[in-house]
Amino acid sequence: MKILVTGAAGFIGSRLMMLLAERGDSVVGIDNINDYYDVRLKYGRLRSAGFETGADGVKWGEELRSSLYGDCRFVRLSIDDKHGLDTIFAKEGFDKVVNLAAQAGVRYSITNPYAYLQSNLVGFLNILEACRNFKVGYLVYASSSSVYGTNEKVPYSEDDKVDSPVSLYAATKKSNELMAHAYSKLYGIKVTGLRYFTVYGPWGRPDMSPMLFATAIEKGEPIKVFNNGDMIRDFTYIDDIVEGTIKVIDTPPAEEEGKASARVYNIGCSHPVKLMDFISEIEQAMGHEANKEFLPMQPGDVYQTNADTSRLETEIGYHPCHTLHEGIGKFVEWYRSADNPLRENQ
Ligand SMILES: NC(=O)c1ccc[n+]([C@@H]2O[C@H](COP(=O)([O-])OP(=O)(O)OC[C@H]3O[C@@H](n4cnc5c(N)ncnc54)[C@H](O)[C@@H]3O)[C@@H](O)[C@H]2O)c1
Repeated sequence: MKILVTGAAGFIGSRLMMLLAERGDSVVGIDNINDYYDVRLKYGRLRSAGFETGADGVKWGEELRSSLYGDCRFVRLSIDDKHGLDTIFAKEGFDKVVNLAAQAGVRYSITNPYAYLQSNLVGFLNILEACRNFKVGYLVYASSSSVYGTNEKVPYSEDDKVDSPVSLYAATKKSNELMAHAYSKLYGIKVTGLRYFTVYGPWGRPDMSPMLFATAIEKGEPIKVFNNGDMIRDFTYIDDIVEGTIKVIDTPPAEEEGKASARVYNIGCSHPVKLMDFISEIEQAMGHEANKEFLPMQPGDVYQTNADTSRLETEIGYHPCHTLHEGIGKFVEWYRSADNPLRENQ
């Protein structure tokens, strides 16, 4: 099976690319390696997947081959480059595409709205068009728990109405679901959107709370605790996310006469925790108490996320198995290891 993974230098994409290649798929990863966060982390992930990235990074369009996995290549390419994307689709003839490339982050969308339009809407349209024109049978793409906005009914179910996003980021993810549905109905492309719930673990994002908290605790600086700590998050360990994503890649939606082959799944841990409990788990793993700065709610943030994953469990056999204690332990172990390229700053 030949699979394209976009966002392959990212947190989820790099792990997905490695696990697909490890089991024998032919994988091409693409990423524009943008500097939304420290690119040393993106290059570090690529190196851990066996790519020799060189002192000057990776040139645009340059193709690297992994020294660790059989048939695994990486190309620096942006999904908003329609010509470049069409060229790689024409050359490779992908069987399946997994689109994880996006401008992520809720808070950044308040100050940098146009980045979201370019990657999440124009880029996503380019992916859909390429799937249509180069006859890709199946597209899996990242949506987000943020589409639930201020939904008060918990746990969040795929049947809940998601028409009230509270950030532009969430609005672009909801738009992706609508665009994918339309392309599925019009052109017979099978599509599955995955609403990821707060992913954490080794090689995680420095703009998300586990890394922000660990870094502040290590430096003895205060951690910012929004909404005075009164928040609930369904933290999901990276390996559970990637294993669930692979199961979804392996199980395209069935065809139904006259209907779009389009579906959306929640993918989370289904064990939401209070932010203060999450902080104390990190404190214990790091062996230091955090100095806490209590602040009000941030624009775009939601009070809670809580996934009902019964649909994914029933239809795909998804069973997340990492407890928060285990997951945070693995995260802190990686954070303090020589593998973490951001340690040099401390
Ligand atoms: N991590 C989470 O908790 C979470 C939660 C919900 C949804 N998601 C979604 O899952 C996907 C992966 O998230 P992640 O946490 O790995 O984020 P990430 O930022 O680590 O990875 C995304 C990657 O996409 C790349 N990228 C951005 N714009 C691009 C473009 N135009 N062309 C090519 N590459 C581009 C970035 O350089 C980055 O490496 C994203 O779509 C994100 O919105 C993540």
